[in-house]
Amino acid sequence: MKITKICCIGAGYVGGPTMAVIAQKCPHIQVTVVDLNEQRIADWNDPNPENIPIYEPGLSEIVAEARGRNLFFSTDVDKAIDEAQMIFISVNTPTKTYGKGKGMAADLKYIELCARQIARVAKQNKIVVEKSTLPVRTAEAIKSILDNTGNGVQFQILSNPEFLAEGTAVADLLNPDRILIGGDTTQEGEEAINSLVEVYSNWVSKDRILTTNVWSSELSKLTANAFLAQRISSINAMSELCEKTGANVNEVAKAIGMDSRIGPKFLKASVGFGGSCFQKDILNLVYIAKSYGLNEVADYWEQVIIMNDHQKRRFSNKIVQTLYNTVADKKITFLGWAFKKDTNDTRESAAIYVADDLINEQAKISVFDPKVSKTKMLSDLDYLETRENKNNLDALSVFDNAYDACKDAHAIAILTEWDEFTTYDWKRIYDSMHKPAFIFDGRNILNAKQLESIGFVYNGIGA
Ligand code: NAD
Ligand code: UGA
Repeated sequence: MKITKICCIGAGYVGGPTMAVIAQKCPHIQVTVVDLNEQRIADWNDPNPENIPIYEPGLSEIVAEARGRNLFFSTDVDKAIDEAQMIFISVNTPTKTYGKGKGMAADLKYIELCARQIARVAKQNKIVVEKSTLPVRTAEAIKSILDNTGNGVQFQILSNPEFLAEGTAVADLLNPDRILIGGDTTQEGEEAINSLVEVYSNWVSKDRILTTNVWSSELSKLTANAFLAQRISSINAMSELCEKTGANVNEVAKAIGMDSRIGPKFLKASVGFGGSCFQKDILNLVYIAKSYGLNEVADYWEQVIIMNDHQKRRFSNKIVQTLYNTVADKKITFLGWAFKKDTNDTRESAAIYVADDLINEQAKISVFDPKVSKTKMLSDLDYLETRENKNNLDALSVFDNAYDACKDAHAIAILTEWDEFTTYDWKRIYDSMHKPAFIFDGRNILNAKQLESIGFVYNGIGA
């Protein structure tokens, strides 16, 4: 089938950028992105493309080019489903917070709602594409819902997981390492796979488009995230050993990364990985393994999360210990709140957990992040189940520049690796702080020697 109309359910960090790039690269395809969240759709339709709800380098330019031409954002989900030949499901699949599998399994209620809505609305045959990250064998459940509508409409389910990373979403989408498409091995299944291959072929070379069965595709996504997160926990485990032995984790990472079998990427020691997916997807993998009775497999992967939690806690403990075992009423400035640079996303950011620990020690936290609002930071803290009290408004002050945020601070903690932090006038910041002035570089981005020569007491990760 030659695809000319696509609908995407979910206008979030995946649906928005992915569809914007498809629309830009395929002007002959009409792409409609729908969401239940009216504010989000209104923001995507904001006349000024700089105000779209997701900050990603290069995204507003693509939206400006395609929006109104062949890219549309709407809350009319039924209409978009009805008109499209191909429907992407890009809704959120968070960790369950209730019932069976609470805290581990993926919550598939939004996926099921989409499947039921498609089943109710569709009058012609459709290809349904799983873009969200899903437990292996979810396509079976979606198919069962779709096949029991009784109205004779035929559905093909494809799995097409997304591998983009936030902050580099546009570059990743324009030049992906691979596109993965899983489908049925029947003739209809292969035709559906080919339709989606044709869409991507508009800008991705065919040798980078990999086709598999549905289950391999679903499981490959969880596996990729587990392997990536595992590398971070591995280097973070070494960072603690480095601190005890006089080794330097940056030097160790460079030395091992030059082995072509290991490779240099994803070896940056940090205050711990954040983001909406690594933890959720590994917990989901652990849950799936346990549900098949594979306890050793489950325990193996769970250790990646245990190590990451330890790294975040270790960072806040280090701040307290270094500040003479008390941070009560001390001003500690966080530079960065987002879970990584070049995004306004804060989901599962290490900053939230470090702030929680320090607020429980009665510290006063000041924050500057170039892209995150105070409302977002407060709601991140309110949302934490572990918060012992809800004095967040007293404990958190937010500034619109780093110099004001750092004034009169006892310590600075770098939580996000925003490039601009490396360009500051650190002497000016030092002069405005309490002495001794401490820096805890949770991202190892600053120049330790230079800061020490100014007078700072510098603490990096793993050095
Ligand atoms: P998100 O929360 O940013 O966006 C999901 C959107 O879906 C929300 O705007 C929500 O309102 C909407 N939605 C939920 N149910 C709906 C329904 N029934 N009808 C219409 N809209 C509905 O989530 P995200 O970060 O875009 O992630 C989506 C999926 O993609 C997840 O499964 C995630 O694991 C996966 N993923 C995310 C990333 C990433 O970088 N964020 C990368 C790869 C894969
Ligand atoms: C990650 C994967 O990289 C994507 O391929 C995947 O599509 C996505 O998850 C998803 O499924 O959601 P993302 O979480 O957006 O992307 O960003 P990453 O660049 O992977 O960073 C995740 C976290 O790990 C960040 O907090 C980052 O600071 C941290 N990190 C990353 C390190 O601490 N060290 C590193 O060497 C690399």
